[in-house]
Amino acid sequence: MPEKAVLAGINEQIGKEFAAAYLYLAMAAYFERNNLPGFAHWMRMQHQEETGHALRLFDYLLDRGAPVELDEIPKPPAKFKSPLDVLERAFSHEEKVTASINHLYELAVKSKDYPTQIQLQWFIAEQVEEEKMFSELVARVRMAGDSGSALFFVDRELAGRATQEPG
Ligand code: FEO
Repeated sequence: MPEKAVLAGINEQIGKEFAAAYLYLAMAAYFERNNLPGFAHWMRMQHQEETGHALRLFDYLLDRGAPVELDEIPKPPAKFKSPLDVLERAFSHEEKVTASINHLYELAVKSKDYPTQIQLQWFIAEQVEEEKMFSELVARVRMAGDSGSALFFVDRELAGRATQEPG
């Protein structure tokens, strides 16, 4: 079983992944209400992906015979200024998640918890992908600026993001 600090960190990380899922669901609602169904779909898929991340750690703790302690999930914002505001906030959220995963990895190294290190290596690689994906999207929406037609074009493309099962 992971030692105390690592265990607490993984339980907290489960909460943070669910918090990301909840945040992206709030963002999906914003896009839906603002006539951007492709962005809304994309955020819903991201909601599922984050739920998958949370469940991955949840299952990992159970596999190690460790206790799961679910945390409270903070209320996400209900209002956003613009599509760019949403995506900038999402990107900044991902940077926080990356920092949290890296910190957790340091704890696992300190406690010589090799299975947790291997588990977290998957998350470290995943965060590289997630940050890249969000930063590219921020750049594209920034480039679209006030052009409704450019945003519409991005929206149509995002509508094609594949549906996936959590996990
Ligand atoms: Fe699970 Fe997007 O971090």
